[in-house]
Amino acid sequence: MNTNTLREVAKQMVAPGKGILAADESTGTCEKRFAKIDVPCTEENRKAYRGMLFATPGLGEYISGVIMYDETIRQSAPDGTSFVQILQNAGILPGIKVDQGTTAMEGSPNEKVTKGLEGLPERLKEYATLGAKFAKWRAVITIDAVLPTDANIRQNAKDLAAYAKACQEAGIVPIVEPEVLMDGTHSMERCREVSERALTALFEELKNASVLIEGIILKTNMVIPAKESGEKKSASEIAEATVALFRKILPDNLPGQAFLSGGQSEVEATENLNAINKRGPHPWKLSFSYGRALQDSALKKWKGSKENAPAAQKILLHRAKMNSLATLGKYSSEMENRSTS
Ligand code: 13P
Repeated sequence: MNTNTLREVAKQMVAPGKGILAADESTGTCEKRFAKIDVPCTEENRKAYRGMLFATPGLGEYISGVIMYDETIRQSAPDGTSFVQILQNAGILPGIKVDQGTTAMEGSPNEKVTKGLEGLPERLKEYATLGAKFAKWRAVITIDAVLPTDANIRQNAKDLAAYAKACQEAGIVPIVEPEVLMDGTHSMERCREVSERALTALFEELKNASVLIEGIILKTNMVIPAKESGEKKSASEIAEATVALFRKILPDNLPGQAFLSGGQSEVEATENLNAINKRGPHPWKLSFSYGRALQDSALKKWKGSKENAPAAQKILLHRAKMNSLATLGKYSSEMENRSTS
């Protein structure tokens, strides 16, 4: 394992003004997204859509890396150029989701654990030969009146650590993603408390597994009220709670933390990220690794038609730029209208 390469790639992933595009939706998730625009979720359509996103002119100015799905990292554009090559040509690091989705936890069926540790070293070896420089594994933590259990938090932390170690041994930087879900009715304070438990356990297990902290990127949720909580919090309140938690738990040698959007709207995700960075400087880069909050409007514009590709790419580039500014704390909502017109 070349630890310098791991350090270098992790740094590039959160380079100033850059963040990550999560385009690693499983086929099931893609089906749900495509259903909203009435496009059948065929392999051809998934390829056309992802190919359109990756070929966005100028994307590399704001996007450091793209997370792909197993199917996607093997695909090519109609002219035969592989998606990996297209990203590399744009100065974007190719990444790959390596977990295999979630399943009910034994003994606590309303909670989830993540599958995919079996055979992981072999799969990582193949992904490295396909050009992947970083990987992602997502663990989900569910909140309700009694959940999460400590057992669930511990199991997810252990599995994330085992995954991270396997990645580093294969020369791949792991994105370590514990996601406390925004689903439900819980308050921001409850999200904070559960996020603290999840992150504490995670850093304990990363240490137990001797994972090189300088060679990982954390991807977690903001401290935020649940979607159905009825609680309204401003961007500055969300930023204050999120930064306070991170200062308590995240080690200073962590290179960066790239947020998931988790169900926030596009503009909310940008505003919150901006408020978080306005409170800097922080010891770590605080960036984005958004899926829905980068893609939603672009997907709607694309609608399965090649003719809409340039307009959809423009929308994606705009969101990438807005989030890039937010990583620097330089975003303001007036910019939304200015650069789409
Ligand atoms: P969202 O930003 O849509 O939550 O997706 C990010 C992601 O990769 C979740 O694993």
